[in-house]
Amino acid sequence: MSGGHESSATGEGRLWGARFASGPDQAAWDLGRSVHVDARLWRYDLTGSRAHADELRRLDLLTAEDHQSLTVALTRIEGEFTEGSFTFEDGDEDIHGAVERRLIELAPEAGGRLRAGRSRNDQIANDLRLYLADHIVELVAAVRDVAGALADQAEAVTEVLAPGYTHLQRAQPVTLAHHLLAHAWALDRDVGRLIDCRQRTLSVSPLGSGAMAGLTLGLDPANYATALGYRGVAENSMDAVADRDFAIEFLSAAAMLGVHLSRLCEEVVVWATVEFGWVRVGDAFSTGSSIMPQKRNPDVAELVRGKTGRLIGDLVSLLVTLKGLPLTYNRDLQEDKEPVFDAVDTLQLALPAVAGMVRTLTFDNERISGSAAGGFALATDVAEALVVAGVPFRTAHERVGEVVAACEAEGIDITELAPDRLAAELPELDPSAIADLLDPAGAVRRRTTVQGPAPEAVRSQIAALRERLGA
Ligand code: ARG
Repeated sequence: MSGGHESSATGEGRLWGARFASGPDQAAWDLGRSVHVDARLWRYDLTGSRAHADELRRLDLLTAEDHQSLTVALTRIEGEFTEGSFTFEDGDEDIHGAVERRLIELAPEAGGRLRAGRSRNDQIANDLRLYLADHIVELVAAVRDVAGALADQAEAVTEVLAPGYTHLQRAQPVTLAHHLLAHAWALDRDVGRLIDCRQRTLSVSPLGSGAMAGLTLGLDPANYATALGYRGVAENSMDAVADRDFAIEFLSAAAMLGVHLSRLCEEVVVWATVEFGWVRVGDAFSTGSSIMPQKRNPDVAELVRGKTGRLIGDLVSLLVTLKGLPLTYNRDLQEDKEPVFDAVDTLQLALPAVAGMVRTLTFDNERISGSAAGGFALATDVAEALVVAGVPFRTAHERVGEVVAACEAEGIDITELAPDRLAAELPELDPSAIADLLDPAGAVRRRTTVQGPAPEAVRSQIAALRERLGA
């Protein structure tokens, strides 16, 4: 034994020990101690403890006096945490141990009664659920803010033509608003996933599951559920203490959200290059170089793209922790909190930065719309005009492809081909419609379906999005 905890009795902030001949070895203790991580669950641990004290009182397992002194002590502890004066002792194993140790200091008699009929296994499952439910609310607001910033930017560019890409090759003209809104709608689904996850996280209370086999003493799980804002009680106590699917669901929504932010950020990085020259990121969201005085780097976008790796890692980490565990609780589950906290912290940092960055973007509308038509982006429209004239699409595709090849050989775009030459190549086309056909604004205007790029369509998308964001 290297150092370690001499006493085998129940430690003050260690909630077990009497059946051992010695205390834990220092290395074992250091490995198992989690209070530096789970301390941030204090609020939820106290909420659960209050509900438990009430339940014990209801059953007369606490006298009115004991209940009163516990209530006073819990309020005092809450104050200590709030003002930052709560001190952890070396012997505090986790947040549950720390709170009980302090309770006993403040209310020696009553403090030792509170542990009746509960286990850290159902306590921790409860604490983490309540933590997530709270933080999801904050994250949802922050995601909506990013989507709102995109909607604001889109509002200003509903008429600005832009090349739409596939394979990062010009594909078809759209409006810049259409492109920006594509990112906003993805974020709207992230909001939906987070809200959904919160609903499910709060749908069943794990309290009353005890260590895993449920409770005796007459404690009623429904009372905990009501007190803590759950909609129901876990159907199965073993499931309730063993699973962390609610946390994985959150991490999955967080990783997806990260990937969406990362794709938006990647576009900002590309658009901010001299080669693209589409956008300028505001000074407050740009960084310089220590050596190259001219540099204006989109670090915020790159950092968020980089942090997405952490979010994906957090999800994978908990999935792997869970995958081989036999039912029910295993200490491996203590590893659930770091990925959850890391994901929350990462998003709390990234989301306001992305929202702020998006607000500072200034687009070079002229440059963007100037490239809307090039790269044969109107070839599909020409082929479709042939279809309207009765040509099978397969044939139309081939014939326009031949025109494209001929233009390429001459080093011109299809829009630069003299209209009478195009009419000669494709005699089925209505000659009076050719000018509009080769105008990117016409191409955008023709796409009037609600999900399309036409100014009218994107304006109604913005309205629909705003309605959802306000929800
Ligand atoms: N700190 C523990 C955790 O986070 C609390 C549950 C401990 N339960 C146990 N049987 N040792 O998982």
